[in-house]
Amino acid sequence: MRAVTAQAPGQISVEEVPDAALPGPAGAVVRVEAAAICGSDLHFYDGDLPFYPVAVGHESIGTVTEIGADVARFGVGDRVLVSSVAGCGACAGCATLDPVACTGGAKVFGSGELGGAQSDLLAVPAADFNLLRIPEGVSDEAALLLTDNLGTGWAAATRADFEPGETVVVLGLGAVGQCAVRCAIALGARVLAYDPVEGRRALAEAAGATALPDDVVPAVLEATGGRGAAAVIDAVGHNATVDTAFAAVRSTGTVSVVGIHDLEPYPLQLLMGTFRSITLRMTTAPVHRTWGELLPLIADGRLDTTGIFTHTFDLDDAAEAYAAVASRSADCLKVMLIP
Ligand SMILES: NC(=O)c1ccc[n+]([C@@H]2O[C@H](COP(=O)([O-])OP(=O)(O)OC[C@H]3O[C@@H](n4cnc5c(N)ncnc54)[C@H](O)[C@@H]3O)[C@@H](O)[C@H]2O)c1
Ligand SMILES: [Zn+2]
Ligand SMILES: [Zn+2]
Repeated sequence: MRAVTAQAPGQISVEEVPDAALPGPAGAVVRVEAAAICGSDLHFYDGDLPFYPVAVGHESIGTVTEIGADVARFGVGDRVLVSSVAGCGACAGCATLDPVACTGGAKVFGSGELGGAQSDLLAVPAADFNLLRIPEGVSDEAALLLTDNLGTGWAAATRADFEPGETVVVLGLGAVGQCAVRCAIALGARVLAYDPVEGRRALAEAAGATALPDDVVPAVLEATGGRGAAAVIDAVGHNATVDTAFAAVRSTGTVSVVGIHDLEPYPLQLLMGTFRSITLRMTTAPVHRTWGELLPLIADGRLDTTGIFTHTFDLDDAAEAYAAVASRSADCLKVMLIP
């Protein structure tokens, strides 16, 4: 089978590798029909996470082609989405529906521990836990977003501690930030959004946010009567954006970080945070838990999942696809790869 592989910074190749095999009696093999490129894959491409070679991709949908003897809820031929984050499905942590709480350790596809989802076949452990049958009426785009980005935006917003009507700032308007904007608005927030790319700000405005200028902090203070935002969601994860988040949040507010930082420590100003009673939350998406919360919102139109995928490439053209999405241009926001 083919597997998209990061070989070095800026170097993506499509490799021929052995077919994915059934990962034990609780597992399944999925024939991937579409996979997406996430900002998290770009950390390998950009060299922030320099672990090579690595078969990449953790956002996929497809059809079950092989099923372990112990799997109760799925069968060959089922059309499924695969959670980007996998848990064992059998421990007390997984019983909370948050794979991050798995006592065996959460595992992410396409980061070395599990196979990459940007491939022809994907081996999925604990299939009863890590798969979701794609409900009638859910588009491929929505299903792909439910593997990761929408659950991340939802968790960023639900963990940001704001009340309806309060002001929430979203920093970074890639696919994750766009999802956070839409989720925060669905939860009743007044959203102010910033990204250096103008077209990405325009997309957030089309979803109901107000765009912020480059000088973010004074603009937030002005928009909140000098008080600061109830919450700031950081969907970038750079030192600069965390700094901005602390400066733009009101005292007693919440900084909700979902952007993935590089390997260097962040110089947290503990004294400032304590004096101002700031809550700092950092979240890896509790993907499985978000499904039950997000599907009704998608079904009744309270959450729009359109307009986030902008391009589709053949899996064989993955190098071109990565270059396009890594340029972080206004027109190329999120890419679907078709095996
Ligand atoms: N926590 C999780 O579970 C989880 C899940 C998925 C992705 N992520 C992470 O979320 C982040 C965003 O992912 P994405 O797919 O949207 O990636 P992306 O690279 O498309 O988006 C990042 C955006 O940040 C913008 N940006 C750069 N510098 C900025 C600044 N100073 N201020 C504001 N915006 C700035 C870029 O222009 C870009 O639009 C990545 O770090 C990714 O790894 C986390
Ligand atoms: Zn992702
Ligand atoms: Zn577990």
